[in-house]
Amino acid sequence: MKILSKILPLLLLFITSSFFSSQAQVGASNQESFTSIIISQTGLDFVKDLLITKAISSIIPLALPKIERAVKIPILGNVRMVLSNITIYNIDVLSSYVKPGDTGVVFVASGTTCNLSANWFYEYTTWLLPIQISDHGIASVQVEGMQVGLTLGLETQEGTLKLSLVDCGCYVKDISIKLDGGASWLYQGMINAFEEQIVSAVENAITKKLKEGISKLDSLLQSLPKEIPVDDHASLNITFVDNPLLTSSSIEFDINGLFTARKKASIPNYYNSNLQPPVFCSDQSKMLGISLDEAVLNSASALYYDAEFMQWTVDKVPDQSLLNTAGWRFIIPQLYRKYPNDDMNLNISLSSPPVIRVAEDNIDATVHADLIIDVLESGEVIPVACISLAFILNITILCYFGTGYSWLMFS
Ligand SMILES: *[C@@H]1O[C@H](CO)[C@@H](O)[C@H](O)[C@H]1NC(C)=O
Ligand SMILES: *[C@@H]1O[C@H](CO)[C@@H](O)[C@H](O)[C@H]1NC(C)=O
Ligand SMILES: *[C@@H]1O[C@H](CO)[C@@H](O)[C@H](O)[C@H]1NC(C)=O
Ligand SMILES: *[C@@H]1O[C@H](CO)[C@@H](O)[C@H](O)[C@H]1NC(C)=O
Repeated sequence: MKILSKILPLLLLFITSSFFSSQAQVGASNQESFTSIIISQTGLDFVKDLLITKAISSIIPLALPKIERAVKIPILGNVRMVLSNITIYNIDVLSSYVKPGDTGVVFVASGTTCNLSANWFYEYTTWLLPIQISDHGIASVQVEGMQVGLTLGLETQEGTLKLSLVDCGCYVKDISIKLDGGASWLYQGMINAFEEQIVSAVENAITKKLKEGISKLDSLLQSLPKEIPVDDHASLNITFVDNPLLTSSSIEFDINGLFTARKKASIPNYYNSNLQPPVFCSDQSKMLGISLDEAVLNSASALYYDAEFMQWTVDKVPDQSLLNTAGWRFIIPQLYRKYPNDDMNLNISLSSPPVIRVAEDNIDATVHADLIIDVLESGEVIPVACISLAFILNITILCYFGTGYSWLMFS
């Protein structure tokens, strides 16, 4: 049981969170990828909704440049009209979708509406009166049926994921402008004057913001570390290898995925890097699939073995008399005669790293251990017997991903 309790946290840590879906296989083209992360359509939809919410909250309030026009009106002559302090303060996305394709990942948001507020102002001089006439008020603008689309290119560059904007566009179908305050007789003239310019101002501003957003997201990805520390001993190598693989309903990322020692420069290469089909459950409704090559588990096992993690001493057992030579007096009289009434302990150490084999729905772990029986005599530890043990653990994996749990069964 002790061995179980030492090894299982490791296995559980890396496995329970990982056995999800995968419609795809481990990317076999690259030798250095031991873990594949597959984001399914459900996962992409989740990411898309998250990105849209995040994008909207980072965009608004969005200030648009001032619009100024001179409009010739019969009798009055030239009227200077200004729309200033134009602000998009609300964006609603009616429907949206995301689809991986040949050129990249396509995002489309349609039926989008925006609410804008602005200040209007006009002035003119006329030969009828010797003074300049001006007026001002506020305007509320409603943009309807806006369609926003972008195609995101994904590639791996020097071990990190690089995003690029392949294509980006924003198209406004309808706009309604409502003016308040001032003299209403000039309203229609102003609405006609501003309509087209507000449309292109909104289209340009949204497109510009999207470009900025993607390049920010890209720098964020570039700044991510290539290794994640797991604990004092180990870190996980999350270097991207190979370009992401886009299918019509998923994106697969291949990462190195091996555990490496944090303190030492390298660890002994106990594991075999033979790629074989990963463990997977076939439920399509999951968002994320992670396929681990058994080399990942073996790299963890080799590393922790190397860190002398897998060695411990037993000096307390339920029947404490068994850990005294007196308890063995009648069974091994020689032991009692040589070391009368001395305490004993059991020193269990793994003689080689556990070897882990991953099959479709179970994991075999073979553990070789040495059990050394020590006698403690006047402060000295004297080994008196050594027993070699081999355990074979068979772990059956059942996936219940809908509830967020994975169950492991032991036999
Ligand atoms: C991490 O993985 C990459 C790609 O496989 C490899 O080039 C790099 O040496 C690895 N880093 C460490 C510290 O092992
Ligand atoms: C500009 O618009 C914002 C929000 O719509 C408003 O709070 C602010 O008072 C306006 N500024 C001017 C100078 O009208
Ligand atoms: C945006 O404008 C629409 C139509 O005028 C209105 O129904 C909606 O409440 C407005 N939203 C906000 C947040 O002001
Ligand atoms: C246990 O055994 C290992 C291997 O034989 C040895 O290196 C270690 O010092 C022993 N530990 C104790 C506490 O006896």
